[in-house]
Amino acid sequence: MKKINDWQWQDYETLGSTNDEICRYLGVSGGKFIVSGKRQTKGRGRRGRSWDGGLGNLLFSFAFEIGLDKLGEMIFIVSLSLYETIKFFAPAADAKLKWPNDVLLSGKKICGILMEKGSGNYLITGIGVNLATAPQMPDAPYPPTSLAAEGIIINRKDFLQTFMTQFDKNLLLLSQQGFAPIKTKWLQNVRGLGEEITVNLEKESRRGVFFGVDDDGALLLKRQEKIEKIYAGDIFYTENKDKGKE
Ligand code: BTN
Repeated sequence: MKKINDWQWQDYETLGSTNDEICRYLGVSGGKFIVSGKRQTKGRGRRGRSWDGGLGNLLFSFAFEIGLDKLGEMIFIVSLSLYETIKFFAPAADAKLKWPNDVLLSGKKICGILMEKGSGNYLITGIGVNLATAPQMPDAPYPPTSLAAEGIIINRKDFLQTFMTQFDKNLLLLSQQGFAPIKTKWLQNVRGLGEEITVNLEKESRRGVFFGVDDDGALLLKRQEKIEKIYAGDIFYTENKDKGKE
């Protein structure tokens, strides 16, 4: 096994899903693991969808032990670290965060994040980054793009190493100073703060001003002078408010 910082890292040519494969490594208490692959035959996305990895893209999962009460904070740390990685390589890139856990590049989807509970206290985070190709996503409200299509060339290993380093730094910041500095950085780089947005919930849509997020990661939506907390939903900005559900 190779190493990135203090993570054990296994890279594959082809495998089913990195989120499944990493389960074989868990169990050594205190272990921190990364599994990556060039191709997945059973890549999974959120809400039971499949994930077409696309050739030349970075597909990986990492797992470590953490209380599941930290899940909300982890979502912010992961998306922030992805955002910071893109900005590290391409400071002028038009990258923005999108609640709850997306990163947009020129307003388009650049990666996907799938968090799942592993055995014991392990949290598994699976990430697909469109380095080279934009996967086909005909129904997605945010069309996918790739870093290469936006003129940003980064290889798999460099992206992964920088991401893990950024993630480690943000995790340390969380343990030393709590969620506040993470939340501040995240809010500085999120799209649409203070603007009118539409949030699609399971059964209804709500329109209001994107007021912020609370310490549990809930979206704060201001409607008729009241602040509502939203725990799950899809955000639509003004120019794509008429799009259907994801
Ligand atoms: C989404 O639906 O936006 C999340 C997609 C997550 C895809 C990644 S690719 C690496 C890891 N392994 C999987 O099977 N899924 C995640």
